[in-house]
Amino acid sequence: MARVLVVDDEPGVRAMLAVILRRDGHEVSIAGDGAEALAMAARPPAPEVVLSDLRMAGVDGLALLERIRHPANIPGGEPPFVVLMTAFAEWDTAVRAMRLGAYDLLRKPFDNQQARAVVARAAAARERHQAARTAGEHHAAIQIIGSSKPVQELHRLIEQVSTTDSTVLVTGESGTGKELVARAVHYASLRAEGPMMRINSGALAPSLLESELFGHVKGAFTGAIEDRPGLFALADKGTIFLDEVGDLAMETQVKLLRILESGEYLPVGGREVRTCDVRVVAATNRDLSAMVQAGTFREDLFYRLAVIPVHLPPLRERREDIPLLAGHLLSRHAVKLRRGVGGFTREAIDAMQAHPWPGNIRELDNRIQRGVALTPLGDIAAKSLFGEPAQTRTSSSMIPTAGGALMVRISKGEPINLDAEVANLERDLISAALKKTGDNYTEAANLLGISLRQIRYKVRQLGVR
Ligand SMILES: Nc1ncnc2c1ncn2[C@@H]1O[C@H](COP(=O)(O)OP(=O)(O)OP(=O)(O)O)[C@@H](O)[C@H]1O
Ligand SMILES: [Mg+2]
Repeated sequence: MARVLVVDDEPGVRAMLAVILRRDGHEVSIAGDGAEALAMAARPPAPEVVLSDLRMAGVDGLALLERIRHPANIPGGEPPFVVLMTAFAEWDTAVRAMRLGAYDLLRKPFDNQQARAVVARAAAARERHQAARTAGEHHAAIQIIGSSKPVQELHRLIEQVSTTDSTVLVTGESGTGKELVARAVHYASLRAEGPMMRINSGALAPSLLESELFGHVKGAFTGAIEDRPGLFALADKGTIFLDEVGDLAMETQVKLLRILESGEYLPVGGREVRTCDVRVVAATNRDLSAMVQAGTFREDLFYRLAVIPVHLPPLRERREDIPLLAGHLLSRHAVKLRRGVGGFTREAIDAMQAHPWPGNIRELDNRIQRGVALTPLGDIAAKSLFGEPAQTRTSSSMIPTAGGALMVRISKGEPINLDAEVANLERDLISAALKKTGDNYTEAANLLGISLRQIRYKVRQLGVR
């Protein structure tokens, strides 16, 4: 329940929205245009959520957004979360709205359910934001950006499972947002006040992993000098996120199944059964049902995990989310790097629309970070995101030049973004090694002097193509 301000120049629309939102228990006020909305928001108690039309005479939705998000214009200095109703997803508008800090866009035509859902989400996010602020935590409210069908579905699902302890299995290619969804499930749930623990099931040898998950007793193995609780004990009343669950060894799968079925487990080397109260969210970019077929993943565990399956489609299959994501990521990096970046050039927008995004949202994030770092002022150009079109990204001669160009910039006192540049270099080198070896991961790993596990991990992490 929140104080909601509905802004629309069509009396019928705002009246209708007021009725359905009041029915949900919100305290609703209405304004006929941006100027009136600003005046109302300046009087305490300020609205917590603003649902505004984009196109209005005078102060339109974007102008309203810009001013109302400014703490100085709001009593108490706590700007409301703003949802803009747009008739069409114009790239520029979407990018600008997200850049100006819109919480989300509600695309017309919408039905009552969609309007109620987006307001409920904005209200909940704002409440979490507020709670985190008073608790002195600075993690931003988790925000899953997008207005495509799958993302709308996702929001509904997260809401639905928030009052249950069902196991959730998140699947999708690398970089599609699986971890973000896992966090959103936790923070939307009744366990939000409890701990959220993440473990990468593929990163450790089975025996170590089991000791991490279930803990061990003193003397269980050399070096076990005292009892140590595992993650299932530490995550009591909270959530465990089992990342890369497709990489679990068979023997660990059995133990996980037991804990899911009965809440019981044995610490490594222990004899006494322990119980736990933990919700499990698992994720994988592997095809678990194919692994079940192949006999490398237990069927019973699969069904236990996939009580609520959530599949995240690759970015190339939901291109309408690209402008919203791009705008959101742009503002995040611009703030972080303190850049006065405007938006994207037409060319950059076309290039983003056309790109296949093998590394999905993580790749978009990396490229935009790079673009922001390379753009001190004005709009980000296509070449700052994707490099010069004439250049082949894998030509070996490019690598020393890239480093050289950076050296020059540093010597001139121009800022660079080290993390992004190093990631780019890593991506180029790995991609070159894979190309050289005809995508043979083992050989490529040898060429680079890293392990097979590392190269797989990096390919996923960096969105190598
Ligand atoms: N819908 C979204 N809205 C905003 N940011 C997103 C969204 N989806 C993903 N991201 C961002 O993209 C990046 C990658 O997401 P995440 O780490 O959750 O992906 P993943 O599926 O777990 O990838 P991997 O399989 O490589 O581990 C993160 O920085 C995340 O915050
Ligand atoms: Mg992940």
